[in-house]
Amino acid sequence: MHKDAERILFTEEEIKNAVEKLGTQIRKDYDGKNPLFVGILKGSVMFMADVVRAAEIDCGIDFMVAKSYGNAAVSSGNVRILKDIDTDVAGRDVIIVEDILDTARTISSVMEIFRTRNAASVKICTLLDKVTTKKVADIKADYKCFDVGDEFVIGYGLDYAEQYRGLKYIGVLKREIYEH
Ligand code: PRP
Repeated sequence: MHKDAERILFTEEEIKNAVEKLGTQIRKDYDGKNPLFVGILKGSVMFMADVVRAAEIDCGIDFMVAKSYGNAAVSSGNVRILKDIDTDVAGRDVIIVEDILDTARTISSVMEIFRTRNAASVKICTLLDKVTTKKVADIKADYKCFDVGDEFVIGYGLDYAEQYRGLKYIGVLKREIYEH
């Protein structure tokens, strides 16, 4: 285990199993369709690569960098798109892939953007869901691997100060690292 990690929350094996299960579910739900997976960078990168392969369906992939600011009001004005997708989503089934839903402000703004662009459907696929910290009440993950508490989680894409994304497991960061 990394010296800055307090404990492991989900092992490499547990992540693999959960992602496979999710992939099977997505394969069933999107049978005969050709959805577009949109990964919200950077945190989603590992999960995105694995879930798309687990789904084993005809699909497209694209990526977006979105930073959300401000309060809970649901509006696309609260999110700044630093990198947009280059795929036309009109009439397309979109699956947004996130590493974590925290306040859910980012995802709700991103969903709004896809609805405005007339996507046929917009679903949320997340690795982790911080269930207790939601600020946008009507947001629910359609596909998710694990619920987590209000802890600082790292690994498998998730960072603290751009570190730890490459860990194969998901762990809890020691308090002393982020509290000075
Ligand atoms: C994280 C995460 C989500 C968002 C979740 O991204 O990847 O996009 O925050 O928080 P919210 O539900 O409160 O909006 P971050 O801005 O840390 O960027 P990163 O993916 O590059 O690490």
